[in-house]
Amino acid sequence: MKAVYFNEVGSPEVLIYREIPEPPVGANDVLIRVRACSLNRLDVFTREGSHGTRFTPPHVLGGDFAGEVEHVGIGVEGIQPGDRVIANGRGGYAELAVARAERVYSLPERCTFDEGATLPVAGLTAWQMVMNRARVQPGETVLITAAGSGVSTFAIQLCHTLGARVIATAGSEDKLEKARALGAEAGIHHRQEDILEDVRAFTAGEGVDVVLEHIGTPVWKACFESLKPGGRFVTCGVTAGHRVELHLGRVFSRGLTIMGVGRGTPADMRAFLKVVAQGKVRGIVHRTFPLAQAAEAHRVMEASNFFGKLVLNP
Ligand SMILES: NC(=O)c1ccc[n+]([C@@H]2O[C@H](COP(=O)([O-])OP(=O)(O)OC[C@H]3O[C@@H](n4cnc5c(N)ncnc54)[C@H](OP(=O)(O)O)[C@@H]3O)[C@@H](O)[C@H]2O)c1
Repeated sequence: MKAVYFNEVGSPEVLIYREIPEPPVGANDVLIRVRACSLNRLDVFTREGSHGTRFTPPHVLGGDFAGEVEHVGIGVEGIQPGDRVIANGRGGYAELAVARAERVYSLPERCTFDEGATLPVAGLTAWQMVMNRARVQPGETVLITAAGSGVSTFAIQLCHTLGARVIATAGSEDKLEKARALGAEAGIHHRQEDILEDVRAFTAGEGVDVVLEHIGTPVWKACFESLKPGGRFVTCGVTAGHRVELHLGRVFSRGLTIMGVGRGTPADMRAFLKVVAQGKVRGIVHRTFPLAQAAEAHRVMEASNFFGKLVLNP
């Protein structure tokens, strides 16, 4: 099968498009013919060897894909060859990839393969942040950073659907415009404007109930200071740095809560997919690339020159 893999960390040029053997399928695994695989920032971190990532060469990236079931392991029930599915698995930058059966879900009817491939990682993470950690309530005000990121495009839609008021940040007017189209009420250009000042202006000095964040160091202080007393801060990533200064006194005296998000459960994913099936949330596909152009897709991701998700088509 054709796949994109790398043997050593480095710039996008380390990605090799070539024929490799098909992946082995364990008893509880499902082999999927990949029609679409979305990029996650983790792919870039792994390829460049940053953020504590590790790999065993040759390594095929891609945890987030959609396609048709080719074959199921001997212990798998309820999934048949030919089923149209989405999966959180391994080796999605390839014509065939494997996922554990518990992480394979039916492709929602209204989704294309491209849209389906955006859901398992970014969508589930946003679901976790909004529903299970922050537990966003109607009427609350939520500050969401990096509005153009995969995670935040889902978080904006979820918060809007819940009846919360969203303030989104992004590094361009174009992204802020697109965030408004998804339901954000206000936009802050984080490269040109002061996040804290703008939040205070929008909330009449009160601050926000919730911050949903994954940029890290450069925006931490402004985001933390943006919380109103009793506010909740949820982080799922540290794209631009993980070290911050935290004033513990301000946490307890203002009754703040800081929460992290790990990997959601299959039950969380099924709950999220119900909302997708109802048409309340959708995956935003910025651009698709043939699998052979995976390196170009990585360059676009590194340049942050996109809104939503980048998708590879084997
Ligand atoms: N915990 C989990 O299970 C989990 C799951 C998924 C993702 N994550 C993490 O969540 C983060 C987002 O992932 P993703 O794939 O959705 O992201 P993505 O699409 O790669 O996010 C890109 C966005 O990050 C912003 N950004 C990047 N560097 C920045 C900087 N130095 N300063 C300000 N903004 C910056 C950019 O905003 P502008 O260009 O507009 O400035 C860009 O829109 C990553 O850290 C990822 O590892 C965690």
